[in-house]
Amino acid sequence: MGWLAWERFRCNIDCKADPENCISENLFMTMAKRLAEDGFKNAGYEYIIIDDCWMTTQRDSNGILQADPERFPHGIKYLADYVHSLGLKMGIYQDIGTKTCIGYPGSQGYEKIDVDTFASWDIDYLKLDGCFMDPKEFDTAYPAVTKHLNKTGRPIVYSCSWPAYQVERKMTVNWAAIRDNCNLWRNYGDIQDSYDSITDIINWYAINQDALISAAGPGAWNDPDMLIIGNFGLSIGQCQSQMALWAIMAAPLMMSNDLRNLRPEFKEILLNRDIIEVDQDTLGIQGRQILPANQGQGVEVWRRPIMPVMQIANETWASFAVVCWNRRVDGMPFAFPRQLGFYGLTHPGGYYIKELFTKKEYGLMKADDVLTMQVNPAGGVFMFKATLAIALKDFDPHKAKE
Ligand code: GLA
Repeated sequence: MGWLAWERFRCNIDCKADPENCISENLFMTMAKRLAEDGFKNAGYEYIIIDDCWMTTQRDSNGILQADPERFPHGIKYLADYVHSLGLKMGIYQDIGTKTCIGYPGSQGYEKIDVDTFASWDIDYLKLDGCFMDPKEFDTAYPAVTKHLNKTGRPIVYSCSWPAYQVERKMTVNWAAIRDNCNLWRNYGDIQDSYDSITDIINWYAINQDALISAAGPGAWNDPDMLIIGNFGLSIGQCQSQMALWAIMAAPLMMSNDLRNLRPEFKEILLNRDIIEVDQDTLGIQGRQILPANQGQGVEVWRRPIMPVMQIANETWASFAVVCWNRRVDGMPFAFPRQLGFYGLTHPGGYYIKELFTKKEYGLMKADDVLTMQVNPAGGVFMFKATLAIALKDFDPHKAKE
């Protein structure tokens, strides 16, 4: 969880015309302060990550990358020290090819120097992009950097773009190797500030969910890209749908927004503890689409197994987080009454049901009970947690039978 500059601040390097928003030390220090002081750090948002456009156009005479001296006058180590002083972690961007996507010096031929440089700056997270290299070379190039990272002795989260460019070229992807070498990885195109972009990403995740789900697990996550909640393109309902579905997909929660000007209703979505808890669930199982919209009268259903779980006679029963996502656009809230069994919630002891945006409790419900909801059009969601009743300490089997 954290904050990443790209989607909201791009490659804005004109600090004369736009000093408050250009890619600079000032921007990252300001965002780090907001992250630390405005409740984000307490909710789990921890990494402040620099994206493209932080460097000069040339390495120095020793081949070392240089931060732009005008925009980062004290250098990256100074920034990392500041970020650490707030109890946060520092991330940086580089590219595995000859250039970054925007055209700054890439790592190819300098992999060890760059990784050692980042470690010497006390960097905690590396986003290594995949522009300007043939994606066929990724299967050896990305693991080579894994080795360099491990040799630094510094724990550095490794974010790869390895599958993203291979998927784009329709190549076969070696998910097992990616999972072994990276902590998270982008799979698909860049998110933009629109609901269309979000639905496009979610559709792609649904189509490819079998391969993606088996690749993911603790320490290794699919990355559907940044949270754009609080920016210009989404309604409140659409922001809720991004938060809900990212949590179901066990996605990294990397905001890219302006923390200085975040409306309270957006902040509330980003700080929703129940949903963050689903996202960060310790089972680490990525959820799946269980009902496509065209089979749900326009409502699409996603489900993720979460804690607590219970082993009963060789069978594992889980609790679940479920999202009913309304993709209809016909104005009024849509009623979607379904029995719990419809969602696969069939343990005879039942489940405690709670909606995670309204915090409304529905009490103990069984497979035959109908959960009634209304979902707003154009991206509204109803997200509930179904806690397996028998897995709770105070569960009374007699009461459950009645
Ligand atoms: C690629 C990545 C983006 C961003 C830009 C920077 O497009 O996918 O997330 O890092 O490069 O140039």
